Amino acid sequence: MPQALIAFLTPWRDPAGRFSWLKTAVVLLALFPAVELALGAWFHALGGRPITEATHISGDWIIRFLLLSLAVTPARAVLNWPRVIILRRLLGVTAACYAVLHLGLYIYDQKWNLIVVASEIVLRVYLLIGFIALLGFAVLAITSTDGWQRRLRTRWKKLHRLVFPISVLTMLHFYMQSKVNVGDAVIYSGFLFWLLLWRALPRRWQPRLAALPALAIGAALLTAAAETLWYGTATKIPALRVLAANLGPDPRPAAYVLLAGLAVLGLALLRRLRRPRLARAI
Ligand code: HEM
Repeated sequence: MPQALIAFLTPWRDPAGRFSWLKTAVVLLALFPAVELALGAWFHALGGRPITEATHISGDWIIRFLLLSLAVTPARAVLNWPRVIILRRLLGVTAACYAVLHLGLYIYDQKWNLIVVASEIVLRVYLLIGFIALLGFAVLAITSTDGWQRRLRTRWKKLHRLVFPISVLTMLHFYMQSKVNVGDAVIYSGFLFWLLLWRALPRRWQPRLAALPALAIGAALLTAAAETLWYGTATKIPALRVLAANLGPDPRPAAYVLLAGLAVLGLALLRRLRRPRLARAI
């Protein structure tokens, strides 16, 4: 049996073929939304518009798995956790699988009429953007195997850097379909800002603790800016009111992004306290 197929059929094993608790935990997490959807459908617990609800649930999980897969490389460097790298492909392929399910649900909602589906995709910009992102995901998932990695050599890395523009497109799709309340989309895009800012750091700064407070603040500021820009251009809510709300008592998306950034700093500190050898990377 080809190596890639064996790896696909036994996702709980590490690259050396041994059982891995870490991978098993992520496989269970990967199955969780599918089970949630299947049980919801079976027990009629998805509300009055079950397909729409399932489309939303699957969409949310694509974003979560995508962000988790993008967080693997920073986690390896910042937390000095080399083993975590075995999760990157699994998380990315899981995101791609839920993207296929998401499109499948949409096609089902259109009663399998592919002409309607195609014309909707061409006519509605948010669907077109989602579709382009989905095609990108499919290419990355198919070429994620060791075989493709060997075949494409240095071009493989270049190809897989496409995950960043694809992530930006998925966020745009998320914002555009959110209509009035873009709260969740803004929070998730804030996490993406953190990940993109981390990638933009010079390589020697990436593992350093000192970079983390600046990253947390930078991601939070970009989040507030994105929220302001969105409301300012896509709605009639005055942009300044949105910006001012960030200084008020109610927690805004930027505050959650700041907290998440500080949580990363806390985790990195804890790792260094437990492993003093790491303290060098401050
Ligand atoms: C990888 C690409 C995609 C990602 C990451 C994605 C993600 C999402 C997310 C996060 C939501 C919102 C979930 C929520 O409200 O909680 C959503 C909604 C939706 N997506 Fe996608 N999507 C993608 C591709 C597509 C494609 C290709 C289609 C169809 C052609 C599509 C159709 C929809 C529809 C119809 C909704 C609900 C809109 C509404 O209720 O008005 N998406 N998507």
